[in-house]
Amino acid sequence: MTDPVRFTAQRGIARITIDNPPVNVTAQPVRAGLSAALDAALAAGVSRVVLTGAGRAFVAGADAKEFDAAPVAPHLPDLVARIAAFPVPVIAAINGAALGGGLELALACAARVAVPGATLGLPEVTLGVVPGAGGTQRLPRLVGLAPALSLISEGRVIGAAEALNLGLVDALADDPVTAAEALALPARAAPDALPAPAPDPAAVEAARAQAAKRAKGQVAPGLAIDLVAASATLPLAEGLTCERETFLSLKTSDQAAALRHVFFAERAALARGRAGGAAIDTAAVVGGGTMGAAIAYALAGVGVSVALVETDAAGAERARANVATLYAEAVARGKSSPEAAEAAQAARHSYHVGYADLPPAQIAIEAVFEDLAVKKQVFAALDAALPETTILATNTSYLNPDRIAEGLRNPGRFLGLHFFSPAHVMKLVEVIRTATTTPETLATVLRLTARLRKIAVPAGVCDGFIGNRILTRYRQICDVMLIEGALPAQIDAALRGFGMAMGPYEVQDLSGLDIAHANRKRMGWKTKPGIRYIPIADRIVEETGRLGRKTGAGWYDYDGAKPVPSAAINQIVTSESSRAGITRRPFTDTEIVSRATTVMIEEGARLLEESIAESPSDIDLVLVHGYGFPRWRGGPMHYAERLGLPEICARIEAFAAADPLSWALPDILRRATETGRSLSDLARKP
Ligand code: NAI
Repeated sequence: MTDPVRFTAQRGIARITIDNPPVNVTAQPVRAGLSAALDAALAAGVSRVVLTGAGRAFVAGADAKEFDAAPVAPHLPDLVARIAAFPVPVIAAINGAALGGGLELALACAARVAVPGATLGLPEVTLGVVPGAGGTQRLPRLVGLAPALSLISEGRVIGAAEALNLGLVDALADDPVTAAEALALPARAAPDALPAPAPDPAAVEAARAQAAKRAKGQVAPGLAIDLVAASATLPLAEGLTCERETFLSLKTSDQAAALRHVFFAERAALARGRAGGAAIDTAAVVGGGTMGAAIAYALAGVGVSVALVETDAAGAERARANVATLYAEAVARGKSSPEAAEAAQAARHSYHVGYADLPPAQIAIEAVFEDLAVKKQVFAALDAALPETTILATNTSYLNPDRIAEGLRNPGRFLGLHFFSPAHVMKLVEVIRTATTTPETLATVLRLTARLRKIAVPAGVCDGFIGNRILTRYRQICDVMLIEGALPAQIDAALRGFGMAMGPYEVQDLSGLDIAHANRKRMGWKTKPGIRYIPIADRIVEETGRLGRKTGAGWYDYDGAKPVPSAAINQIVTSESSRAGITRRPFTDTEIVSRATTVMIEEGARLLEESIAESPSDIDLVLVHGYGFPRWRGGPMHYAERLGLPEICARIEAFAAADPLSWALPDILRRATETGRSLSDLARKP
């Protein structure tokens, strides 16, 4: 292992290089090395110090492994202070990402030179904390209050050109070290000697309004705004003290723990893609509707050639138009040039009617109508048209992949690949291992999903896999609350108040009530023994034709785009209560949230017990990335562990005592409570 910090001195200039692969995080050995290098610079009597990073990053932030531990000296704020007060100028040569603590080091320097491809930012709020080494005080002194507010409270990462415009860097150079050695020091003082920024109450208000919208329920962005605003009035030293106190108190908060949990779970999910498997360069996608077109577009975006199959010429034309729309949107958003979009469509996409002229593909992904017979025909055709080694994947939401795979040659290469809509945007994909899927097939697909930058969560076969199975139970319990006395708007508001992106009834209006209706029919809920069937949603579909926003009415009436509680729906709800002989009673928001979150936890526990999900954090990823569960609560299983599993058990037992058809305590939760072990510990590995 090389030294994490290297020091050289030549012609009166010291060069300090942070070299802690892969991205030079400020782990304790780096901090110690930096401290020693500053000593060496003093001893060498240099007139200038250039601070840079080795490899592709300057310093990409703190060491995530140290997040949960007590800090060990030297501490970053002390190093930053030492750089700020250094007797000779220290110049940051920003050779790549300067994020979090990395940017705070650079901010203490007398000047900053960056490569054009550098990225800069203080993304601490995304982990539930604020910058802790001077960022909230030095950035506004350097760039002014308004830009600092937006960068820090949103945790936004910017490119070098924008940083130059803001005055955050002094110059851009392809070789920032050489440029930093020669740089004429800027006329203005180093950040610590700069006057406080001018107060800007309007910018502070705007930042608060923005945070209330974008980061509803989260504490760190609001506190970050307070700190940046205070930089205009407090002396630097006092501002730094406040910042440190806020940082330390947030570091141990529930929200920071939850955000760290999701961050680590995401990293672990991405790492699954590095466990071997073959590289995929050619794909076939069957069905060019909503899902198929977006999947094809996403694959082409990472360089895969995609042959799209439809049943007839008109279908192929529709598919081509669907794909073209996605490219046009990318151009409109400035994500691609018209020329690049044209070139990609010509080079990477082909369209086919049937399978006769299908080029060989390493993977085929099916996204046709949700119908078992249709899907089986598609796979029989793929099986005949493509090599026996081609991986075969179905994007089914609810059908049983084991059934779809029946009759295939080499069923070991078959699996489910459940993308979420829009498939080129949503990061989540459930990767469904069937009874026959081989580990090699899984590894190759996980390598592909990692290349797509997707969060891939493996799951076993069951109705709805992880996400939709929990969703079904969640909606069922919400419907129970409806019949017992709550109304849709109240349930939606309570769950939004908890932090869900949307309430369950708003979501149904958006996606269409017919989908869930068809599912309940397929599952035979009306007559199924052992479940408490609530007929409200089915009555709405069957008697009123209100299918959601697409028909202008659903659980809500609509005044333009604005949902309005509906007297007609409330009438159906209350009449169903009477029909069931239920005396409606009021529900508090707390009770609504308690039931709705507890049922997610209960079903999640069952998924672990049945080895459908591999770990509680996988369930959290699915709910956070696919179903609008608040990231800052860490997902339902993390939330459960924070609340305490005995509390969850007590809730379920109380609910089950009153309503045994709707609730039952999963054994794994009982065992976790009895033994004090965690759910991940008790989960059976598949
Ligand atoms: P869609 O109706 O937009 O597209 C289906 C396409 O398949 C149509 O273009 C149709 O012409 C084509 N098609 C039908 N039979 C075919 C055949 N035998 N050969 C070739 N092409 C055929 O449907 P959507 O929404 O794209 O859904 C497709 C699949 O993805 C379904 O299984 C659905 O359950 C699943 N899914 C849908 C999600 C969504 O949010 N829309 C989310 C996740 C999965």
